[in-house]
Amino acid sequence: MDKQRKLTEKRTAIVAGATARTGEVVLRTFLGAGYAITATTRRPERLHALLPQLPGSDAVQVVQAELIDPAQVERVVQTTLDRFGRVDAVTTLAQAGFLQKPFAETQLDDLRRLIDGNLYTTYNLCRAVLPPMLQQGAGHIVTVAGGSALDPGYGRSLFGASKAAIVTMTKGIARDYKAQGIVANCLVAGTIATDEARRYLDEEALRAAATMEEFASALLYLCSAESSGINGTAVELNAREVN
Ligand SMILES: NC(=O)c1ccc[n+]([C@@H]2O[C@H](COP(=O)([O-])OP(=O)(O)OC[C@H]3O[C@@H](n4cnc5c(N)ncnc54)[C@H](OP(=O)(O)O)[C@@H]3O)[C@@H](O)[C@H]2O)c1
Repeated sequence: MDKQRKLTEKRTAIVAGATARTGEVVLRTFLGAGYAITATTRRPERLHALLPQLPGSDAVQVVQAELIDPAQVERVVQTTLDRFGRVDAVTTLAQAGFLQKPFAETQLDDLRRLIDGNLYTTYNLCRAVLPPMLQQGAGHIVTVAGGSALDPGYGRSLFGASKAAIVTMTKGIARDYKAQGIVANCLVAGTIATDEARRYLDEEALRAAATMEEFASALLYLCSAESSGINGTAVELNAREVN
């Protein structure tokens, strides 16, 4: 059996924004679960440098894509179909840079940037992946928001609003296509103990935060057939931050 045939027999996922801080752990986790992956990034050289360190990384194809551009996202999906034959799951780590500013100090351009990087990128992915998933009669869509989508902390009104739109859009996708085998959920993550977070969080906050492995495992579960009973929900990953 040749290598290409083996790849097309694997479950396949698109992991968008894979050069995110959480990207390496997410790729490791999905590879460990036997996925063939299309990993998108705007900085392919970074992913190509990382891949040799990941076991089984010949099951990853890197596609350069600016996710705000629908044509580039459609190319991501087509490239996945061309290489793997199907797309079972999609998730995205892409986000616009964080913004923490009291509302009266914000500008319309702040909101535009957040809507572009958070909502439009997620919209383009979901929109592009749905036709082949509907044709397959199955597909898992896992979008990602942060806790501010449900309850914005100080200065997070715009960031929270852009992520809240993702929660609502995801629930809507599930409602529209639940009868056609589409499962769509939004993982609403609290703090994640990324390397960057380790620089500014105190010990207690770090203990409470989700590990990157916990984040990746939750994504993997929601992408998997085992989670099919969960549809159209905002799944909170609150680790040890529970009140
Ligand atoms: N880190 C946390 O504590 C935390 C907490 C709660 C929720 N989350 C959520 O978890 C997800 C991953 O977080 P993270 O901290 O790992 O993310 P991150 O390090 O901030 O990385 C975000 C990635 O988004 C990509 N990106 C941004 N705009 C893009 C665009 N227009 N087109 C293509 N790619 C774009 C960037 O890719 P390039 O490398 O290509 O520039 C970057 O690598 C995000 O949705 C975030 O909101 C994170």
